[in-house]
Amino acid sequence: MIYVDKQTPTSLFTQQEGACAEVGMTGASSRASAVTLLKHKSMKATESSQSDYHTPVLLSEVLQYMAPVKGKVLVDGTLGGGGHTEAMLSAGAHVIGIDQDEQALHHAKARLVPFEDRFTSLQGNFSDMPALLNEAGYDQVDGILVDIGVSSWQLDEADRGFSFGKDGPLDMRMDRGSGQTAADLVNYASEEELRTIFFEYGEERASRKIASRIVEHRETKLFVTTLDLADFISSIIPRGGKSHPATRIFQALRIAVNDELGVLKELLIRASSMLRPGGRLGVITFHSLEDRIVKQFFKHASQPEIDRKEWSEARPNPDYCYKLLTRRPITASDEELKINRRSRSAKLRVVEKINLQTL
Ligand SMILES: C[S@@+](CC[C@H](N)C(=O)[O-])C[C@H]1O[C@@H](n2cnc3c(N)ncnc32)[C@H](O)[C@@H]1O
Repeated sequence: MIYVDKQTPTSLFTQQEGACAEVGMTGASSRASAVTLLKHKSMKATESSQSDYHTPVLLSEVLQYMAPVKGKVLVDGTLGGGGHTEAMLSAGAHVIGIDQDEQALHHAKARLVPFEDRFTSLQGNFSDMPALLNEAGYDQVDGILVDIGVSSWQLDEADRGFSFGKDGPLDMRMDRGSGQTAADLVNYASEEELRTIFFEYGEERASRKIASRIVEHRETKLFVTTLDLADFISSIIPRGGKSHPATRIFQALRIAVNDELGVLKELLIRASSMLRPGGRLGVITFHSLEDRIVKQFFKHASQPEIDRKEWSEARPNPDYCYKLLTRRPITASDEELKINRRSRSAKLRVVEKINLQTL
C-alpha cells in the first residue's frame, strides 16, 4: 500500500496526541520496536571524517537558535555527516544524533569520536523519536533539530539509487533495512498511484502521461536501475530548460519511498512532548511541500486562540504550546550561497515551547 497523504497540516491535530501533549516517552510504535540502538563507542571507526561528505546548511543560524551551551541536551534527528552535531558538540552541548541510514551513522560516529563523552547515536526514524529517546534513557530535552532530506553523500553514491545521473539500483531507501524500493513502486504500483505520486510530490505536469507509459513499458521489461528509468523518461519527455526531464520524477519517488511528508508530520505532532519548557524545535526544509507543512503547523501551534466564521467568538486553541521565533523562514546568506549551492533552497523555521503551567 503506497502512502499518499492528503491530510492538511492542521488536521494533524485531530489525531490522538495533541501538538502539546505532555505524554512522556512511552508508547513505542511498531517501527520503533525494530529500531536498533547503537552506542557509538561500539562501532569500529573505519571511515575518514572528510568534510566533503556533506556541508551543513545555515550552520551559524542553527547555532544561534539552538544555543548549544554546556549542560543542554539537544537532539539532531538527521545526523547525516554530523556537521550540525559537531558544531553543537564543539559549543559544549550533549547531542543525541539520530539517523535511519546505517552508513551515515557509521560515518558520523567516526567523525565524532573526539566528543564521545557527550555524543549518543541512535539508529531509527525521527518519527519514532519519543520511543528512541526513551530506549536510550532520555526524558525531555532542550532542543530538537531536523535537516530534512538526503545528504550530498547519499545523492552522490550511485549504489543508493537516488541520482538519475549515476547508474545504480533503483532503490532510494534511506533505511535500506526496510520498506519498498523505488523499483518496487515503479514496477508494481498501479497507474493511478504512480500518477498521484508524480503529481503530488513532484508537481510534474506530465504525470498522467509518464505513469501510463511506465505501466505500458513494464509489461515487457521491468525497471531495474536508475538509468533504466532516467533514460526512459528522457525518451518520452522532451528536455526543456536546464534540468533533466527525470528530476521531478526522481524527487517524487524519493519522497514516496521514504514517506518523507508523513514522517515529518509525525515528528511535528510528537515534538512538544519531548521538549522542556523553553526547548526549541528547528526544522530545515528544501522543498516547498515540506516547508508549507512546517509553516502551517508552527503557525497553528503558536496561536493562543482560534477564530472561525461560524463561531460567535474566538476559542482557546487546545494545541497552543509554542512561541514562534521565526516569522519568516531563515534562508542562506549571500556568503553561504556562494560556497554551497545546495543552501539556495534551505529554509529554517524555529519554535520555542512555552511553559503551559505559567499561563
Ligand atoms: C540533509 S542530511 C543531514 C545533514 C546533517 N545535518 C549534517 O550536518 O551533516 C539528512 C540526513 O538525515 C537522514 N534522514 C532523513 N530523514 C530521516 C528520518 N525520517 N529519520 C531519520 N533520519 C533521516 C538521512 O539519512 C540523511 O543522512
